[in-house]
Amino acid sequence: MSSERSSVTVLGLGMMGTALAGAFLAGGHPTTVWNRSAGRGDDLVGRGAVRAAAVGAAVEAGQVVVVCVRDYDAVRETLEPVSAALAGRVVVNLTSGTSQEARDLADWAAGHGIRYLDGAIMMTPQGIGTPEAVILYGGEQELFEETRPVLDRLGGGGTYLGSDTGIPALYDVALLDIMWATLNGFLHAVALVGTEKISATAFLPFVTGWLGGVTSFLPAMAEQIDAGEYAAHDATLETHLSPLGHLIHESRARGVDVDLPGRTKAMVERAIADGHAFDGYARLIERMRGR
Ligand SMILES: NC(=O)c1ccc[n+]([C@@H]2O[C@H](COP(=O)([O-])OP(=O)(O)OC[C@H]3O[C@@H](n4cnc5c(N)ncnc54)[C@H](OP(=O)(O)O)[C@@H]3O)[C@@H](O)[C@H]2O)c1
Repeated sequence: MSSERSSVTVLGLGMMGTALAGAFLAGGHPTTVWNRSAGRGDDLVGRGAVRAAAVGAAVEAGQVVVVCVRDYDAVRETLEPVSAALAGRVVVNLTSGTSQEARDLADWAAGHGIRYLDGAIMMTPQGIGTPEAVILYGGEQELFEETRPVLDRLGGGGTYLGSDTGIPALYDVALLDIMWATLNGFLHAVALVGTEKISATAFLPFVTGWLGGVTSFLPAMAEQIDAGEYAAHDATLETHLSPLGHLIHESRARGVDVDLPGRTKAMVERAIADGHAFDGYARLIERMRGR
């Protein structure tokens, strides 16, 4: 896109679509918006967006068509009836889904002459347009570079992950995996200390400090995983087993659920039973891989 003021159409004005359209407006792009149901987008229109009555008219108004609806079924319901109008245009799909859904949609787009990029938004609507916004993209590199001046309006610079349109969705769930594991650990730990009337807020500074320490383990673990070499450089799996037992004992004694630590302990015990007692924690990757 040579012009920094390319026209943009946003399909879907839920919380995220509204934030995306707002960022394009803030960047000075002529912005057309469409939503399946009436009653959304008044604020955007007040800020200069044009509301299209039909998806076909919306698509025809934008050089770049950004789609952000509930799921890929909704994307197809929206795009398939207007495939002819989309031919030759750029479609950037920022709806969450699976890698297979993204690849299938990219194939469908290619079959209709639609220039397609897939993206995964790793940010809440409030963060769109800020430097902290993380959005991951996949698709033809030339198309990404061409569309970049528009996409950069969403903040953070955007990260291009390669030509495979399925990879952003895979990164999306993998990063959410880390988020849920961390949140679950936090909630369990807070339930534990809460049995002594220690509030979550009082415990929080210890958590944030500890998380920094835990993060510092990751580069060495990543190297071990990539090398397939798991020798313990700090603590062996056998050393991990004993405090895991303490965690389960302490939880049970206080009436706190032991499901999560129980699963971790079972993984460690299994690796030890398989002869890996003196390996480090990175050995558990083999279990995660289902081996
Ligand atoms: N919110 C976040 O923090 C966040 C973060 C990252 C990614 N995302 C992703 O962004 C996408 C949108 O999320 P959101 O937060 O904006 O959700 P939302 O507020 O619930 O809005 C959903 C949008 O999808 C539309 N929609 C649903 N079914 C449709 C269909 N069959 N045909 C056409 N439009 C349909 C809705 O239109 P109606 O008004 O007509 O129902 C609405 O515009 C999701 O894939 C979500 O996972 C969201």
